[in-house]
Amino acid sequence: MKDIAVYGAGGFGRETAWLIQEINQAADTWNLVGFFDDGEKRGAVIEGLPVLGGMTELNATTETIDVVVAIADPATRKKVVTSITNRKISFPQVVHPTARLGSPSNKFGRGCIITAGVILTTGISVGEFSIINLATTVGHDSRLSDYCSVMPQCSISGNVLFGEEVFVGAGARILQGITLGEKSVIGAGAVVTKSFPASSRLIGVPAQHVPSAS
Ligand SMILES: CC(C)(COP(=O)(O)OP(=O)(O)OC[C@H]1O[C@@H](n2cnc3c(N)ncnc32)[C@H](O)[C@@H]1OP(=O)(O)O)[C@@H](O)C(=O)NCCC(=O)NCCS
Repeated sequence: MKDIAVYGAGGFGRETAWLIQEINQAADTWNLVGFFDDGEKRGAVIEGLPVLGGMTELNATTETIDVVVAIADPATRKKVVTSITNRKISFPQVVHPTARLGSPSNKFGRGCIITAGVILTTGISVGEFSIINLATTVGHDSRLSDYCSVMPQCSISGNVLFGEEVFVGAGARILQGITLGEKSVIGAGAVVTKSFPASSRLIGVPAQHVPSAS
């Protein structure tokens, strides 16, 4: 079994550690060695797993290791991934045994995390380092670019297109044929009924653009 570590020991990181334990229960796949996180003390123990260090230690590792970058915020995740320069590190797809990945022609980039109860159908592609979280459904011919994050219980209808780093809050609904430009943020519970350009910030039903407070 290959060693795997989780980068990020926050809420989603700990959920991802549990996800790996679930995968191992279904079929022995990885040896989960611990967390890497610059915000935690090296040697601390989180949910029974050691913190092995931060980015410096990860980039200095001489062992071959799989790493799953489990940070929900797309921009932070991208920053972490692009800081990992150690060629000993690989980024596997991490998929819960109850997730249904749809037709065999669906495509998934490296580093994707697909958690329990997700269902995808057909003609779908999911870019590198994207997250599709708990019980979300993705309809036919939808395409998610790299570094997208879809939070629990979302419905992404057919022919939807996401640019890079789109974040979709819990329980949001994206209706069919909609395009969301890169770095858009969809608030929890929003129903998106039309396409929006890059960096849109949408809340409500039907979803409307709201400017960022900052
Ligand atoms: C949309 C969102 C990104 C806005 O975050 P924010 O900029 O920090 O906004 P604030 O919390 O300061 O709220 C600003 C206003 O928008 C309202 N608001 C925030 N989120 C909302 C949402 N999803 N739907 C409707 N209104 C919302 C707030 O009530 C507040 O209204 P007020 O000014 O009348 O008091 C965020 O609230 C959200 O929905 N994030 C997704 C959370 C999620 O799903 N996490 C995953 C958990 S697993």
